[in-house]
Amino acid sequence: MQILGIETSCDETAAAVVEDGTNVLSNVISSQIKIHQKTQGVVPEVAARQHILKIIPVIDKALKNAKTSLQKIDAIAVTQNPGLISSLLVGTNTASTLALLTKKPLIPIHHIEGHIYANFLDRVLKDIRFPILILTVSGGHNDLILMKNHNKFELLGETIDDAAGEAFDKVAKILGLPYPGGPEISKIALKGDPNKYDLPRPMLNSKNMDFSFSGLKTAVLYLTKKQKKLTQKVKADIAASFQEAVCDVLTAKLLKASQKFNPKEIHLAGGVSANQRLREMVAEKISQLPDPRPILRHPNKMIYCTDNAAMVAGAAYFKYQQSPSKFKQWKNVIANCDYRLL
Ligand code: KG4
Ligand code: ZN
Repeated sequence: MQILGIETSCDETAAAVVEDGTNVLSNVISSQIKIHQKTQGVVPEVAARQHILKIIPVIDKALKNAKTSLQKIDAIAVTQNPGLISSLLVGTNTASTLALLTKKPLIPIHHIEGHIYANFLDRVLKDIRFPILILTVSGGHNDLILMKNHNKFELLGETIDDAAGEAFDKVAKILGLPYPGGPEISKIALKGDPNKYDLPRPMLNSKNMDFSFSGLKTAVLYLTKKQKKLTQKVKADIAASFQEAVCDVLTAKLLKASQKFNPKEIHLAGGVSANQRLREMVAEKISQLPDPRPILRHPNKMIYCTDNAAMVAGAAYFKYQQSPSKFKQWKNVIANCDYRLL
C-alpha cells in the first residue's frame, strides 16, 4: 500500500511516499530555517505563507521521486495536530482537496504519532517487538510513552513546561547562537567541559515521570549574565554543561520507566533524538541493565529525527490497517492544536 504523507505543522513543508509503513520511496523536505533565522525563531504567519508557496511543488517532487502519481497512490495522510494552526491548515486543506479530487482515503495523523513511527522507517517490521518505551523529544513536545502495540499508546509522563528542544533553542539564543539551537549547542559542546558548571537537573528525583526544563534554562540565563566575557570557551563550557544536564534528566526518567515496564525495545524520537550525547548516554545506561536488555533504536536516518512526511505516511499505514472504513471521507481532517495523543 502506497501512502502520500504531508507534514506542515511547523516550519518544514514536507511530502513523502511510503510503502506498507516502512519502505520510504521518497522524502522531500523544504526547510524554512534560513527565513526563521532572521527572527531567531518561527513567526507563524511567515511559516504559513512559505507553506503555501512550497506545498504543491514539494508534493509534486515527492510523487516524481517515488516514480508514482496521485492516481497510483492508495491513500493520503496529513498531520492534523498539534502545531501552528495556520501552518497545519495549509497541509490539511491541501490533503482534503487532493482526497476529494482523487476519491482516495484521507488519514489524519497526530504529529507525535508520526515521530513515533519514524523509528519504523527503513526497518524490517517483524524485527520490531512490543512493548516499546518511547522518549519523544522535540521542539514542542517531550513525552514518555509506552506503546503496547500498533496504535496503542499509554502516556507515562510529559513536560510540565518547556520541551527539551525548546530549552536547547532558548539556551542557544541566550548564547547568541543561531536557530535552531539544538544542532548548534551540540556542535560547540564538543569543545566544552560538561562538568564545568553544576547546573540543576529539574525533577530528576521526582516520583512521577514528568519533565521540566524551564528552570534549567533560567539557570543558564543567570550563569551567562554572570560571566565577565562570553568567550568561545565559556560558551562551549556552558553549552556542554547544559546539554549534560538535559541528557541526565531524560536518561534517568527513561531508565526509571524501563525498570518499571520492562519493554522489549526503547526508542528515541523527535528532533533531539539526533543528539549524539543523548544517544551515547542512553546506550551506556541500557548496557548496564540486567539481561534481557531492551533493544535501543533511534530513527534510521538523521533526517527522520526532525520533522518530515515519511513518518506521517508510515504512521498512517498502521492506523489505516486497523479500521480502513473510518478514513473514506475527505472531510475527516480538521486542523487543531489539541496535544493529546490518546
Ligand atoms: O521534532 P522537531 O523537528 O520539531 C518539533 O516537532 O518540534 O524538533 C525540533 C527540535 C528543535 O528544538 C531543535 O533544536 C532540536 O529538535 N534538535 C536538536 C538536535 N537537532 C535538532 N536538539 C539537540 N541536539 C540536536 N542534535
Ligand atoms: Zn516534530
